[in-house]
Amino acid sequence: MYFRQALGSRITDVDGNEFIDFLMGFGALLLGHANPAVNEAVHEQIEKGSMYGLNSELEFKVAEKVVDASPCGEQAIFLVTGSEANSAAVRLARAYTGKDTIGRFDVGYNGWHDAFLVTPNRPGFLGIPRTLLKTTVMLPWNDVDGTTRLIRSSRQKLAAVICESYPYVSPDKEFLPTLREITERLGILLIFDEVKTGFRLAFGGTQEFLGITADIATYSKAFANGFPISAVAASAEIMRPVAEFEVPYWGTFNAYPVSLAAALATLRELDRNKDTVYPNLHRLGRALKKSFLEALSENGYKCLALGADPMPWVVFSHLKQISTSKQERTLYRGKDAELRWRLSMDLVKRGILSVPDHPWFVSSSHSEKDIHTAVNMLRDSIRT
Ligand SMILES: Cc1ncc(COP(=O)(O)O)c(C=O)c1O
Repeated sequence: MYFRQALGSRITDVDGNEFIDFLMGFGALLLGHANPAVNEAVHEQIEKGSMYGLNSELEFKVAEKVVDASPCGEQAIFLVTGSEANSAAVRLARAYTGKDTIGRFDVGYNGWHDAFLVTPNRPGFLGIPRTLLKTTVMLPWNDVDGTTRLIRSSRQKLAAVICESYPYVSPDKEFLPTLREITERLGILLIFDEVKTGFRLAFGGTQEFLGITADIATYSKAFANGFPISAVAASAEIMRPVAEFEVPYWGTFNAYPVSLAAALATLRELDRNKDTVYPNLHRLGRALKKSFLEALSENGYKCLALGADPMPWVVFSHLKQISTSKQERTLYRGKDAELRWRLSMDLVKRGILSVPDHPWFVSSSHSEKDIHTAVNMLRDSIRT
């Protein structure tokens, strides 16, 4: 499919078909498409020059907002993509601890850079050097005992543990608090990848939502409502080697002024309206989950609602829960996966846009009516 314009919660393809968008740029559009305040800030910035190469005052303004929002942040740096932010976070952790190895989970996604895709499973992806396994410890998500054991036995070499802080395989209640406790006790940094959750679950992301403070947090997606930018936030102590040029952090488009202007406008909007935006996002996501589950189970389907409410995902599943990587793998094979693909494609034909293998996203531009329409389309789809 090819698209030509989008506004609010709607996106229109090249043939003029309009969809209610529940993909929202893979989560990049928390305020909806073409938000007027963000667009105005971007237009203004373009008039003032889109690229300076050297630092801009916008960096301070956006850093202030990020540090304000992020419980672990005293300073922030800006890059372009989520993958870059995670690579920078890992580099900072290695520099800070003087250790090389990184713990990573078998659930969640941290981007497409080599270190985040190398896996002991064969064949794995092509083009990823397997030598990276020497500096990687794979950890079992939601397995408190297994994770604790592996972290303990690797403590001498582990610089940091990185996790997607709230993947669609939701963290069990005790899992992240235990992870925080053990990493802190052993002097291992905890990196929360908040690329999807940052400014979405709450203004302060997962850290605020769950009341857990990481050592380093990374942001992108909702951060600038559709403009390419990412950030790393951490204490001044962890950031020190960046300021002193000991940790390389350069990139032509890092801290790109146009994206910074979009970020500042987005964060101001979210901050100003946080008492309404966040309760609404959670309410709409919860309503979507509940109505989808009802409609499907009334029609005899076995299904589960996954993920945090602002990024809901209702899937066909014969399992009672999906909380481990082994359970997660069942989502991608067999009849349940086939059904999900068929339903997703049929909903697209009915004007409801999502992709089959990805959670949905609600934004502040979605309304209750949008959720009702989606549920009605779902009911029509399973009837026919
Ligand atoms: C949790 C998470 N981390 C990292 C990334 C990578 O971000 P990017 O695609 O901007 O490199 C993504 C992208 O989907 C993500 O969802």
